[in-house]
Amino acid sequence: MATTVNSTLHDLSPAERLERGEQLKRDGIVIRTYDIWKTYIMGDQEIHAVSGVDIQIKRGEYVAIMGPSGSGKSTLMNLIGCLDTPTKGLYYLNGKLASDMEDDELAQIRNKEIGFVFQTFNLLARASALHNVELPLIYAGMPPKQRIERARESLRAVDLEQRMDHKPNELSGGQRQRVAIARALVNSPSILLADEPTGALDTNTGNEIMALFERLYLQGNTIVLVTHEPDIAAHANRIIHIRDGKVELDEATTRKEKRTLEV
Ligand SMILES: Nc1ncnc2c1ncn2[C@@H]1O[C@H](COP(=O)(O)OP(=O)(O)O)[C@@H](O)[C@H]1O
Ligand SMILES: [Mg+2]
Repeated sequence: MATTVNSTLHDLSPAERLERGEQLKRDGIVIRTYDIWKTYIMGDQEIHAVSGVDIQIKRGEYVAIMGPSGSGKSTLMNLIGCLDTPTKGLYYLNGKLASDMEDDELAQIRNKEIGFVFQTFNLLARASALHNVELPLIYAGMPPKQRIERARESLRAVDLEQRMDHKPNELSGGQRQRVAIARALVNSPSILLADEPTGALDTNTGNEIMALFERLYLQGNTIVLVTHEPDIAAHANRIIHIRDGKVELDEATTRKEKRTLEV
């Protein structure tokens, strides 16, 4: 079952692996997986949730990962987001070999390189919008004055500066998701990683959130969006279709190029 890619990669010396990471970075490739697998053992059964995935995402791309329920999207997103490591294969995030990292190193690279947006927002209920957005900067050890300024800026970028003192239950669903997006952006991560970000929202509010992603993309952010909805995936420049843990199709959408939209 091992592919040539895999065996070739396993033959790479540590120095060659480092050099490959440097090359990816020079080429502006933020995400590169080489034949990654995630296998769960359930009793005497092996479940290959992700089975031999090669993907490459460049800085500034807007990519949707789409597939039916159970196809392995969340597992793949957890690997890309450094919440988990692959059972097998190599994963480079921004030139660094994340697949080789231990938990503490993984947590560090995750905080620095990735901004997460979840379907259910995952905000602290008792904290104001400002404090929610400030949190990643507290973890990063930034002094108060500077981090409050940065958190305000981030809330301004999602048009929520006027609501910064509101707690989540004093905000609408769409506003909560905007707070979550501001929090994801506050560290200036290499990628914005969103798992079904409109899944808990009505159609109109969902469209507003998609318009915001569009704007963030045009401002130069790299976005990876996980969804099972074709309408949502159609907003991206590229759709990677996943089925049974494998890439079934990797296609450019007919959506306008960034350049024409910027005019
Ligand atoms: N922790 C786990 N233990 C065992 N099997 C899992 C685990 N997580 C996911 N799976 C299985 O892996 C497959 C892919 O799941 P998942 O990545 O959640 O798919 P999706 O997000 O596309 O719905 C499914 O068959 C699921 O049951
Ligand atoms: Mg899922």
